[in-house]
Amino acid sequence: MRTQVGIIGAGPAGLLLAQMLHQRGIDSVVIEARSRAHVESRIRAGLLEQGSVRTMTEAGVADRLHREGLVHRGLELRFGGQGHRVDLADLTGGKVVTIYGQQEAVKDMIALRLAAGLPLHFEVADVAIHDMATARPRITWTQDGVAQSLDCEVIAGCDGFHGICRPAIPAADLRIFDRIYPFAWLGILAQSRPMSEELIYARHTHGFALATMRSTSISRLYLQCAPDEDLSLWSDDRIWSELRARLGGALEEGPILQKGVTAMRSFVAEPMRHGRLFLAGDAAHIVPPTGAKGMNLAIADVRVLVRALEHFFAGRGEALMDRYSATCLDRVWKVQRFSWWMTQLLHRYDDHDDFEERVRLAELDYLAGSTAALTTLAENYVGLPYAD
Ligand code: APR
Ligand code: PHB
Repeated sequence: MRTQVGIIGAGPAGLLLAQMLHQRGIDSVVIEARSRAHVESRIRAGLLEQGSVRTMTEAGVADRLHREGLVHRGLELRFGGQGHRVDLADLTGGKVVTIYGQQEAVKDMIALRLAAGLPLHFEVADVAIHDMATARPRITWTQDGVAQSLDCEVIAGCDGFHGICRPAIPAADLRIFDRIYPFAWLGILAQSRPMSEELIYARHTHGFALATMRSTSISRLYLQCAPDEDLSLWSDDRIWSELRARLGGALEEGPILQKGVTAMRSFVAEPMRHGRLFLAGDAAHIVPPTGAKGMNLAIADVRVLVRALEHFFAGRGEALMDRYSATCLDRVWKVQRFSWWMTQLLHRYDDHDDFEERVRLAELDYLAGSTAALTTLAENYVGLPYAD
């Protein structure tokens, strides 16, 4: 088998890349380790920057997103028992964010690709990359016990944080930046009306809490917890009472449909390219979810990669491919900074003394009262402008 771009991983990065390449007449084959049902049901974050919505619209994958996505013009910061509304649209000249579950976007992109009869293989095993330092890299895998081999011109490593692409790059050629936070998020999906029409980010002496949603009847709620939190110690009653304490206000309870613990990490691998292997999305970087940036950063990488590959396959040379990593990392580090800043501002650190506590409260108070500071938050939250 042969193709122009071999794409490893059918998450948001791999699927969007495949679709945007298809729009430009560039062939690709997507391979995915898990089953279709698994990737379509994996619950992840669900907040899209204005630019992500535009990118998905231009890619032709946003029909249902426009019908069902919830447009948010603001959010609420809650601390010291009081709420402070941040008018994102007013502060950014009209920009907004949209709530749409990541797995819904994944479902839409899978359906589109399969309906078009384009190659997308699920449940592949033993995936390996060969000859990535040459102009003819190759991917091998097995499917249903049968060995497969795909000759490519370029390989896109979109296989997430635990994939095989980043580890395939010689360690001496990669620089890793890693920070693990001393807490995690306990997240639930509940059949209950959201507390408010907008998201609530709360800082409380017990720890952080976030009230978000998936629809007008499904809430998504998170609580700061220990990194090794034992979910069996969290009865539904305990979860609701802790959410009520931290979020304040009237919280409608309902059946809990799903529960899980998400680790918190900041991670960057540099550079994001090795020969003809290009990393995109979680394969290259992880952000803590406080800024809601994971999927948005994956989409931003894909935009840059598509432009570079478009040039390359049009015979216009490798200049944009050579700049891929630097262009992406410029945004990645700004988004890392923002995600780290939101995280440290809103979470409880057991080792912080009273001085650090007071400084953070002062920072929040300053933020809530300063248009300059709120503008900084808002322009990062709705998404920094793209380089192109
Ligand atoms: N071979 C093929 N596929 C693989 C392999 C492999 N060896 N290893 C992992 N995968 C698949 C995973 O099963 C997953 O479906 O690669 C896909 C990677 O998808 P994501 O983890 O969703 O990563 P990405 O597409 O970069 O999207 C980033 O996803 O993790 C969230 O919060 C993150 O929102 C962000 C977004
Ligand atoms: C979500 O809707 O799951 C979500 C929203 C905002 C965040 C994190 C997660 O910061």
